[in-house]
Amino acid sequence: MNNDIQLDADGRLRHLITTEGLPRPLIEQILDTAESFVPEMGAPPKKVPLLRGKTVFNLFFENSTRTRTTFELAAKRLSADVINMDVGTSSRTKGEDDLDTLFTLQAMGADIFAIRHPDNGAAARFAAHAAPGVAIVNAGDGSHAHPTQALLDVFTIRRHRPDFSNLRVAIVGDIVHSRVAHSTIHALRTLGTRDIRLVGPAEFLPADPAALGVSATENIAAGLRDADVVMGLRIQRERIADETLAGVDDYHRRFGLNPTNLAHARPDALIMHPGPINRDVEITADVAYSGQSVILEQVRNGIGIRMAVMALIAGNSAAPPSARPVHGLV
Ligand code: CP
Repeated sequence: MNNDIQLDADGRLRHLITTEGLPRPLIEQILDTAESFVPEMGAPPKKVPLLRGKTVFNLFFENSTRTRTTFELAAKRLSADVINMDVGTSSRTKGEDDLDTLFTLQAMGADIFAIRHPDNGAAARFAAHAAPGVAIVNAGDGSHAHPTQALLDVFTIRRHRPDFSNLRVAIVGDIVHSRVAHSTIHALRTLGTRDIRLVGPAEFLPADPAALGVSATENIAAGLRDADVVMGLRIQRERIADETLAGVDDYHRRFGLNPTNLAHARPDALIMHPGPINRDVEITADVAYSGQSVILEQVRNGIGIRMAVMALIAGNSAAPPSARPVHGLV
């Protein structure tokens, strides 16, 4: 993607739409900033005044548990005012266009929108129409992108396996419909990971994996061989028009993250999943909550990553200081 819409003339974060094309120094700045926000295990959460006087709207046109709540927590820990719009009971049900909803909430003094939408490209469309000084953070648009999920994924990996260039990553499941897979592949590639294997049935694999700089296989043993990181993905049934899948049991036998299939990966491989999981389809509960799993760590790290993204954007407000107080970078 052209970075014109998400970076300003000085290359600083203006909106966050996608990890595709996001420069490595900026990704590293987000990860380093997030480090300063993630408390040590058992320590109380850090609250800082970086977004005091700012208003963050969570505008989710699609359901969410992790992303919406961690954006809310992140904004509150940055001392912002936070509004969680319930789109299901909003005037959208009376036919209001999504852009008119944006303009209406902007008129209330919104500074940052975290937006989830079922349509590919929706976040870029909102960003193109946002007022100066109002930022759009993509919280997942269709099967296109989920950049904060990708950033929390690479943040979590970096904490355990800091050498991205020697990492073997297997991403298993419904790749083609997964915005997480697309965004995480871009982030890993930018950070230097060369060995990324996509594993799944043919209908879930991209047509041209080489164009993405990855390999693809339907053979789980080959895909997981000596992998350092194994990331499972949910089947995105909400984005699949034709139900062409074989039975769940057969899918789980061939592609599920269970002890039999994981025996092909390194014994200390990190087990990841963006959630929500479908137990006994793409992963067993025993694996999801095993000592190798960092799935709940991913969730926790999402707060720090979302704090970092909003703090960096706020430090880069395009509006005049008289109109909107500008906070310094952390
Ligand atoms: N990973 C993720 O986006 O989960 P939610 O749909 O629960 O936000």
